[in-house]
Amino acid sequence: MKLRGYIVALLMVGSLEPPAIAQSGQSNLSASPTNEQYVPRLGDIMNGVQTRHIKLWFAGKAQNWELATYELRQLKAGLLEAAVLYEGIPVSNVTTMTKPVQSISDAIDARDFKRFAKAVGELTDGCNSCHQTMQRGFVAIQVPTTSPFSDQSFAPPQKKP
Ligand code: HEC
Repeated sequence: MKLRGYIVALLMVGSLEPPAIAQSGQSNLSASPTNEQYVPRLGDIMNGVQTRHIKLWFAGKAQNWELATYELRQLKAGLLEAAVLYEGIPVSNVTTMTKPVQSISDAIDARDFKRFAKAVGELTDGCNSCHQTMQRGFVAIQVPTTSPFSDQSFAPPQKKP
């Protein structure tokens, strides 16, 4: 459990303080789940992570850095949730995600799409490494090609004059 705390600390490093809206009314994800609390299935957490992985990419591609920051934060929260709730997940495979997450964050801060694209590639390799370790190598993640989210525009919002 001590080690888990360490991972959580690692993943939290450099994270932006989430706006109040993201916290209001939510249970503390780092608390141990009680019987009354709904514990999401790992596959469902991963589906959320996948959604954020896709949206992160299209946000960065459209240079909507604000959205990219948001999606990265959501993605990180998903990985964190998986690590905290599912102790069977290998620790090393979670900690190796810290580096690419930080690189993406740095690229977003620098508004540098080239660096962003490279870092997303590294993050994606990290997804697959863990899947392979966990006998889930058949869940092969790649940098997305087309957005399945036709109801969401990834372009930065038009600034009012
Ligand atoms: C530390 C380990 C680990 C990391 C890192 C990880 N995953 Fe997973 N992922 C898993 C495990 C374990 C499963 C299988 C869950 C199950 O069998 O219920 C899984 C399953 C999935 C699935 C299948 C979900 C479904 O039900 O169809 C998707 C999609 C997925 N991961 C996406 C990602 C993406 C995208 C990333 C990287 C941003 C990622 N994962 C990083 C461990 C990980």
